[in-house]
Amino acid sequence: MLKFRGTLEISGDKSVSHRALILSAMSTGKTKITNLLESEDVMSTLKILKKLGVKIKKKEKTWLVYGNGTNGFIEPDNPLNCGNSGTTARLMLGAVSSNPINCTFVGDASLSKRSMSRVTEHLEKMGAVIHITKKDYLPLIIAGNESLLPMKHKIRKASAQIKSALILAALNIHGTTEIIESTPTRDHTERLLKFLNVDFKLLKLKNKMTKIQLNGPYEIRSKNIKVASDPSSASFFVVGALILPRSKIKLKNIMLNPSRIAFLKILKRMGGKIKIEKSKKICGEDVGDIIVEYSKLKGVSIPSSDSAFLIDEYPILSIAATQAKGKTTMKGLNELRHKESDRIKSIFYNLKKIGIDVEEKNDNLSIFGKKITIKKNIIIKSYNDHRIAMSFSILNLLYNMKLKVDNKKCINISYPDFEKHLNQLISKN
Ligand code: S3P
Repeated sequence: MLKFRGTLEISGDKSVSHRALILSAMSTGKTKITNLLESEDVMSTLKILKKLGVKIKKKEKTWLVYGNGTNGFIEPDNPLNCGNSGTTARLMLGAVSSNPINCTFVGDASLSKRSMSRVTEHLEKMGAVIHITKKDYLPLIIAGNESLLPMKHKIRKASAQIKSALILAALNIHGTTEIIESTPTRDHTERLLKFLNVDFKLLKLKNKMTKIQLNGPYEIRSKNIKVASDPSSASFFVVGALILPRSKIKLKNIMLNPSRIAFLKILKRMGGKIKIEKSKKICGEDVGDIIVEYSKLKGVSIPSSDSAFLIDEYPILSIAATQAKGKTTMKGLNELRHKESDRIKSIFYNLKKIGIDVEEKNDNLSIFGKKITIKKNIIIKSYNDHRIAMSFSILNLLYNMKLKVDNKKCINISYPDFEKHLNQLISKN
């Protein structure tokens, strides 16, 4: 039987890679970015920045970004294609909104079904003029404006992308912009801004609410950025090591931002033998190694209050749940319906297909762990969703390679080296 053995360095973090590019483009001067994730999503952001007049070049393994300042985007000649990337679309909408330019945003079929009004409703209130398909979708045209109103925004949905879009807009707004989140979300934008010495206030309010206060316009001085390794990409190998008997691995230099590693807490609660060794800080983010070995897992209940910090890891947590003793319930998953695929449906359909008992009710998902044998090939429907494809590729290792993922190409969206890294860890004896 296959097992995982050895040490691995995972590719750069996707969320930080987008932000490193955007914030260096909005800085003044040259930024060197190392360990940038060169995935399709990140390349969508990079190409859009180039179309907006930002000079970006690669020299050996380093990316050089020549920033034009917070007010430096020029009007593009062609539509800005966000491909499959929700982060690109939402963050770039915010970034261009406070520049005096017109931009058309387009995306692929999946992205064109994902909500954009969650960002544009705020930008419109500030004064951007937006023509949007069916009130919610790409393609859309935005007329940005240098005198957007400084305002107080309350964000109702737990989404780091909405918050980040508003922060990026505020960098070129004259006056005080306040952004209140009722549920805290991933905080990479704030951390990178602090690293870049941008002066803003972060206040903790009652009931875990937070307020970010920015006083624009800002001039950001460029500073070189190193991107730490992606914990969400690491999660596939963490779960692989937990479920493949006799496995033991070390994943090096992983970003340990608390808003990103909640999945490790859940897996530990399930009985996972996981050790975290914090070692340093890279550009405002804690970084360290994760050591994982095969473990007997048990089912747990995951409350909806954890969902914003587990948002990308539910597919692979579902795979862990199939091997756990008893029932695992994941609550409050509504936001999963708005990802690259409807992930509640994608997980449910594929687990049922391979013979796992799974229940779905009111956006809660219950998975009943059970030992099954798979005798003939089963096609796994990825729904062109990279995280679904990678999750079932991990489960496949346990079932003698009988699970055939229909489209492995979509993995390039977030982790082009996934297959290579998987093969590096696989050991047969
Ligand atoms: C991301 C935020 C999350 C996450 C996505 C990346 C980001 O989306 O699912 O993969 O980089 O800000 P939401 O904030 O919309 O939940």
